[in-house]
Amino acid sequence: MQNFDYHNPTHIVFGQDRLAELDQLVPAQANVLVLYGGGSVERFGTLDAVLAQLGSRRVTTFGGIEPNPQFDTLMKAVEIVREQEIDFLLALGGGSVMDGTKFVAAAAPYQGDAESLLSHGFAPLPIERSIPLGVVATLPATGSEMNMGAVVSHNGGKFPVMSPLNFPKFSILDPSLTFTLPRKQVANGVVDAFVHILEQYVTYPVNAPVQDRTAEGLLQTLIEVGPVTLEQPENYDARASLVWTATWALNGFIGAGVPQDWATHMIGHELTALFGIDHAQTLAIVQPSLWKLRKQQKREKLLQYAQRVWHINAGSDDQRIDAAIDKTREFFQSLGVATRLSEYGVERERIDDVVNALQTHGMTALSETGDLDLAISRQILEDAY
Ligand code: NZQ
Ligand code: ZN
Repeated sequence: MQNFDYHNPTHIVFGQDRLAELDQLVPAQANVLVLYGGGSVERFGTLDAVLAQLGSRRVTTFGGIEPNPQFDTLMKAVEIVREQEIDFLLALGGGSVMDGTKFVAAAAPYQGDAESLLSHGFAPLPIERSIPLGVVATLPATGSEMNMGAVVSHNGGKFPVMSPLNFPKFSILDPSLTFTLPRKQVANGVVDAFVHILEQYVTYPVNAPVQDRTAEGLLQTLIEVGPVTLEQPENYDARASLVWTATWALNGFIGAGVPQDWATHMIGHELTALFGIDHAQTLAIVQPSLWKLRKQQKREKLLQYAQRVWHINAGSDDQRIDAAIDKTREFFQSLGVATRLSEYGVERERIDDVVNALQTHGMTALSETGDLDLAISRQILEDAY
């Protein structure tokens, strides 16, 4: 196992009917900005329920954070925070709202050029202060509710924004708030969480059985509850397991002390930025083809994945790896998520644009071994078409 630090300060408040606890969770004297998305929380009553719990605190609202939150939109919230001396942010929504809120938290007190906060990649932001934030999560997928990461879209790119100051102080995870999700978003959530686990698990072995066994358990849980919660949207137990698995998929625990890949995410980000394909859909396109091209580098872990997650025991090493790749693709498809770039109406010639965008964004040495270059990215995209 590699050396690691692990510190996760987010207080998880899990379960049904816990919004009333906002009154204890948000400081009594706080001047609060409640941030949300395109209106689902208005339509389904969550916004009103939250506002009711904030009582006599000074509260301002900021709606309209779009999926794949845009820098320009978030800067409007930054202005409000500065003008009104807001000192607590409450994110009410999915990954886009949580991520957008994290960016606002970091950018509002920042003295320098806020745009430069998009240029630090996976390194922590050079900031000393961030506005404390809380979350009421409405979509299980990204893990943003219990991590320090965010992804912000700007000028045709998607940029990671990381800071340990941006862990939510608390996240309320009420599975019943997610019952209203359209089928497509539930399926996307299962795929996103699944690939988060894969990117931290299917690399190379470093004798980390705690992380491995946890990853395998989380993957198996998704295989089990994904289809159930799609078919029975109000099955509380299935939804609760999906919510908690998505959180665990990216709260840092299974990634501590092990190599991490993230190439599928980085290539996928360009597909979203260029063609507007949903985040999880891009992962379903890239992951199976990436494995086909990277069998050698990931051999041992792919074999372990085949055996422990899919119970594939027959055939040669290559046959078992291929069967595991097929099973993964079939799983995504069974959820209704298409796994071919051509199925999203993208023309083959546009692969050039994706490769150029990867180059522009410095994504030229991806993966756990840093040797996934532009030529291999092109092959992956060709294979995925
Ligand atoms: O905007 P509203 O009207 O609220 O509708 C949203 C949105 O249209 C809707 N929705 C959310 N909760 C709902 C609901 N509809 C009905 N009922 C509910 N309870 O769902 C749509 C998608 O929401 P979004 O927040 O965009 O989805 P998701 O949670 O998948 O977040 C995706 C974003 O997270 C980033 C992605 O890049 C993308 O920008 N990621 C963040 C990560 C992180 N912070 O660690 C890691 C991930 O890999 C990912 O990159
Ligand atoms: Zn993701």
